[in-house]
Amino acid sequence: MSMLLNRLDITLPIIQAPMAGVSTPQLAAAVSNAGALGSIAVGASKADEARAMIAQVRAATDRAFNVNLFVHAAPQSDPLREANWLQGLAATFHSFGSAPPASLRAIYKSFDEDDEMLTALIEAAPPVLSFHFGLPKAERIAKLKATGALLLASVTSLDEGLAAQRAGVDAVVAQGFEAGGHRGIFDPTAFDDCLSTLVLTRLLVQKLEIPVIAAGGIMDGQGIAAALKVGAIAAQLGTAFIACPETSANPAYRAALLDSENVHTVMTTAISGRPARCLVNRFTALGEQLAHLPRPDYPIAYDAGKALHAAASAKGEFGYGAQWAGQGAALARALPARELIETLVGEMEAARRF
Ligand SMILES: Cc1cc2nc3c(=O)[nH]c(=O)nc-3n(C[C@H](O)[C@H](O)[C@H](O)COP(=O)(O)O)c2cc1C
Repeated sequence: MSMLLNRLDITLPIIQAPMAGVSTPQLAAAVSNAGALGSIAVGASKADEARAMIAQVRAATDRAFNVNLFVHAAPQSDPLREANWLQGLAATFHSFGSAPPASLRAIYKSFDEDDEMLTALIEAAPPVLSFHFGLPKAERIAKLKATGALLLASVTSLDEGLAAQRAGVDAVVAQGFEAGGHRGIFDPTAFDDCLSTLVLTRLLVQKLEIPVIAAGGIMDGQGIAAALKVGAIAAQLGTAFIACPETSANPAYRAALLDSENVHTVMTTAISGRPARCLVNRFTALGEQLAHLPRPDYPIAYDAGKALHAAASAKGEFGYGAQWAGQGAALARALPARELIETLVGEMEAARRF
């Protein structure tokens, strides 16, 4: 067991991935109470909401937990690109008796632009903080480090891993192409090798001096044992936790995920403007039809995505939701968090005996 996690008295090499819109303070607390590391995601939240979520976790556990932030490049508004995208979506809005919004806006700020969030985090001082989509500026990292927090960063390549190490984070989350949700790639316009979890983990374990956490497609204890075997100090699991009763996933999302005979996933930029792995649904199919249209920047495109989901779900159609899931979706189980963790530990121990 790694000294890094021992420092926080985390006894299991399991991290529940932060999942904006899905993970909850209840889930994070249940996971941490079971001896793993629970996470909340505040990337889509305002500072006051983040404070409230942190207080909710603290009320339900006295163990360590992680608070996750989005550190994307500031979006550039492009009215023509946005108008063309809305026009592309218009027929679908009309099919639900609705109209596309007249214009789009960035629905949330990058942590790098959000001073109120920085103040809230310095005051609340959560034990672990993690970054997705990039790294905060050096002075912000220094302020967060001064709170005593352990810092983690999602990376998808060796270059990003080296940048995270140089910036002073304590460990990297090696996010393979299998992973559910948004790909943490720092610059989505740059060349992407689309490295798998196994390749990326091995590469980073060999080339970095800081510890590596493996993420992407890990659904059971056998998968966690494999990640540890190739040098990761822990595994971060997202999709495996979506169907826990403690999440806020809606019933249609749960049902689609648990339909293991028919479940498929695909990387799409149509929902939010950034690549993200989602269950194949009506929105991902529409995205393929509109492949010729450039997407507005993240998270401006997400404003349209959320409006379309709202219009469709008002008419009982839930296939336009951001149903993020990894390639391991067909292995998902619907168990309470504590039971899931006990099951993962049992499988991990059985796998380690071989
Ligand atoms: C529903 C969902 C939402 C996610 N939201 C976030 C997020 O807010 N922040 C983040 O760092 N990662 C997020 N991720 C990515 C996870 O951190 C992790 O990389 C991924 O879940 C690992 O792959 P797996 O889903 O196959 O386990 C999300 C993943 C899912 C499935």
